[in-house]
Amino acid sequence: MISIIVAIGKNNELGKKNDLLWNLPTDMKHFRETTRGRTVIMGQKTFESLAKDKDGKQVGKLLPNRRNIILTQDLSFKKEGAEVVYSIDELMDLLEKTSGKDEENFIIGGGMIYKLFIDKADKLYITHVNGEFPDAEVFFPAIDKTKWQKIKSEKHPKDESNKYDQEFAEYLRKI
Ligand SMILES: NC(=O)c1ccc[n+]([C@@H]2O[C@H](COP(=O)([O-])OP(=O)(O)OC[C@H]3O[C@@H](n4cnc5c(N)ncnc54)[C@H](OP(=O)(O)O)[C@@H]3O)[C@@H](O)[C@H]2O)c1
Repeated sequence: MISIIVAIGKNNELGKKNDLLWNLPTDMKHFRETTRGRTVIMGQKTFESLAKDKDGKQVGKLLPNRRNIILTQDLSFKKEGAEVVYSIDELMDLLEKTSGKDEENFIIGGGMIYKLFIDKADKLYITHVNGEFPDAEVFFPAIDKTKWQKIKSEKHPKDESNKYDQEFAEYLRKI
């Protein structure tokens, strides 16, 4: 099964300059706890964005305690410790062969990859960040409420470490 996990602003904002728009430790903890021990699937750009060297250059990082799968169209791209796939079909084949039917596989971004999987996903874990981010460059696709039923909502008011109110919502596909 395919789940999407994402944090979005009020206008579906996702990121800018290949980075996030906020620093929300409560959401990071939620992400770690939800995906721990599972498979995470990401685009090459999101992979790159996960760590920087001392000069601020993005160098990429595998997420520990998770099976990491990276999607790229660059056939020369390899990464020790990760599985690399070069198309959606290749990814779907790999999951069919290596993942149980009820096992959750998490699409973790970014914008291009969410667009490719929104119609294939069974479940959405969406952190609604209560803010607007006019300088965003990458957006999550519109959530069609006729297709998704909200089954859970957990609210976390802003605090000293988290500048914005957050809602951890879960949606199941209706159709
Ligand atoms: N708010 C959130 O929860 C969240 C989560 C994750 C990421 N983000 C943000 O999203 C932004 C990155 O998103 P993005 O849209 O620029 O990039 P992305 O979706 O992370 O990665 C795009 C890359 O995926 C590969 N790709 C795309 N389509 C493919 C296909 N059909 N088959 C195989 N590979 C394919 C390509 O890699 P190659 O170019 O190597 O071929 C493409 O450049 C960043 O700002 C990041 O911080 C936000």
